[in-house]
Amino acid sequence: MSKNNNEHFEKRVRMHIAPGKIRIKENIDMFKCPFCGEGMNFDNLNSLICNNNHCFDIAKSGYVNFLLKSLKQKYDKELFESRNLICKMGFFDPLVEKMACLIAKNVSRSAADGLNHIRILDAGCGEGYHLSEIIKKLQEKDNIDLQGAGIDISKYGIQLASKNHKDIIWCVADIAKIPFLDNKFDIVLNILSPANYSEFGRVIRSNGLLIKAVPNSGYLKELRNKLYQGTDKEAYSNEKVIEHFSRYFEIREIKSVLYKVSISKEELNHLIKMTPLSWGAAEEMIEKASDSKIENITADFTIIIGKSRL
Ligand SMILES: C[S@@+](CC[C@H](N)C(=O)[O-])C[C@H]1O[C@@H](n2cnc3c(N)ncnc32)[C@H](O)[C@@H]1O
Repeated sequence: MSKNNNEHFEKRVRMHIAPGKIRIKENIDMFKCPFCGEGMNFDNLNSLICNNNHCFDIAKSGYVNFLLKSLKQKYDKELFESRNLICKMGFFDPLVEKMACLIAKNVSRSAADGLNHIRILDAGCGEGYHLSEIIKKLQEKDNIDLQGAGIDISKYGIQLASKNHKDIIWCVADIAKIPFLDNKFDIVLNILSPANYSEFGRVIRSNGLLIKAVPNSGYLKELRNKLYQGTDKEAYSNEKVIEHFSRYFEIREIKSVLYKVSISKEELNHLIKMTPLSWGAAEEMIEKASDSKIENITADFTIIIGKSRL
């Protein structure tokens, strides 16, 4: 950016500008064009541009859209609104707390290595609750300077994230083409979302970590039983996911998190809407589940922590 442009930018920054845009400016060195791999710069306050003139809009609320055309998604607006309600009722809080503790342990090690600015990427972040809570918890525990970034292929998820959690960098982007340069993150989170291990390995710095949360067989079992009773979908195993993880990342630690949450009828309906578990179920089974008297739901996860083999 030229000196004049820079001064102009600083002036605008002092005026009312979404915090997300300021965070993007402070971390502009980490962005990468997902199409040609070049570094990125500000075109003006409303877009990022690379040396080959690939240009990406920054929304008013401060997120960047790296997808040139929007893809049809099963994850729609309603799903993310329900997911947001379920997150806010605290359904995932013990999982998030455990993840924050595991990160704190490793972040303190990074601090001991002399790193005092830690970057965390949440790949497949959805509506952003988990990353935002994890950062809050880490800031309460430790006095380390943290920058969070979240990417998700769904614009609806990222729109909600950028509205609700303003100090994080949010991008609509595909995990297969992460819009960040190599070795820019100390930690990559991948929570209940698909993975792209070669991209994760590329953006994690050496000695950085991938922390993945996957459902265990008990996850939402009360709902699974209602939706898939008597079918081969009644049981679930994450064995293959863990095996696949270990091909790319050396497993350092595996932790289980198991608890029950009591839910109201309204929350049960949001739970049914927010989970991909419902996607394969027949309409009548969804109705039956919604009318059922489920009052407690099992949350059952494995957290896998790995160091890249790449
Ligand atoms: C079950 S949701 C989990 C979201 C969030 N991590 C959470 O736990 O609430 C899976 C997420 O993966 C995202 N996703 C699926 N394919 C993706 C891709 N190729 N790139 C980025 N995100 C993707 C979806 O849009 C969705 O938000």
